[in-house]
Amino acid sequence: MSGSGQTHGDHRQWAETSHCRVSAARHLGGFAVLELIAPRIARRAAPGQFVMVTVPGEGYLLRRPISLFSAEADRIALLVEARGRGSERLTRLEVGDVVDVAGPLGSVFPTQGVTNALLVGGGIGCAPLQYLADELAVAGAHVTAAFGFRDFRAARAVGAFTIERLSVATEDGSVGRAGTVLHLLAALDVAPGTTVYACGPTPMIAAVQRWTFHEGLRGYVSLEAHMACGTGSCHGCVVDTARGKLRVCSEGPVFRLDEVTP
Ligand SMILES: Cc1cc2nc3c(=O)[nH]c(=O)nc-3n(C[C@H](O)[C@H](O)[C@H](O)COP(=O)(O)OP(=O)(O)OC[C@H]3O[C@@H](n4cnc5c(N)ncnc54)[C@H](O)[C@@H]3O)c2cc1C
Ligand code: FES
Repeated sequence: MSGSGQTHGDHRQWAETSHCRVSAARHLGGFAVLELIAPRIARRAAPGQFVMVTVPGEGYLLRRPISLFSAEADRIALLVEARGRGSERLTRLEVGDVVDVAGPLGSVFPTQGVTNALLVGGGIGCAPLQYLADELAVAGAHVTAAFGFRDFRAARAVGAFTIERLSVATEDGSVGRAGTVLHLLAALDVAPGTTVYACGPTPMIAAVQRWTFHEGLRGYVSLEAHMACGTGSCHGCVVDTARGKLRVCSEGPVFRLDEVTP
């Protein structure tokens, strides 16, 4: 397995901003899948990376970090959950609206040499895993995904995904298996050497990390952190890792699963 999440391209270029028009918007409860015309970003993007998006309107000083849900030809797509005021406003974007988007930013999920992949997502943490699944499938890898959600409302996000082997759990049992994503993992027959890719809330990451080590597997994690600049200048997104204090926005968001302490 290669090192931690790989960096991608020239860091100064990552912060380049594009005016992007919304070309399609699909609403799934409190979620929206936004397709943006963004040729410069789509050309350079890789799975695991994110963009910083301006929120239209008064009073939104900071851009919001959003993972790339897909990137193809001249388009990127974002899966956005209405959490607070800013993200709620983003879910109400309509076709023809224009937003400023900086990116692609951050490290990427290493995929080279991977033949079996297990993608584990929790809540909106599932968002970067569709793009990863697409790239792994193109490379001929066998991809399995397990997603966990709190309840029916949170599980509406599943409607955005097209991963073939995807199992779902909800804590209230309203969709898929009753329980957490760990219950799904326990029921899987995982091939030796499978690479695990995880993204979700901190307690889920900690549990997936323990399970992965117990199974003798290795993998990668995409971390979330509150971000201001998104480009490595403010040090507002620093986390402790086995390599010392690192910035989620620039050394991450993708790290090796064995170097983070969730
Ligand atoms: C690398 C990265 C990738 C992300 N990808 C996606 C994505 O693909 N889709 C998506 O919907 N969201 C994603 N997020 C989270 C998203 O950036 C936040 O939900 C959003 O910035 C919140 O803005 P707001 O104005 O709605 O929330 P605020 O009003 O500022 O806060 C609302 C609530 O959200 C919480 N919150 C705010 N920022 C974050 C954050 N960064 N992480 C966790 N909780 C937060 C606050 O604590 C509060 O409880 C990502 C975050 C990071 C760091
Ligand atoms: S958000 Fe500013 S350094 Fe990461």
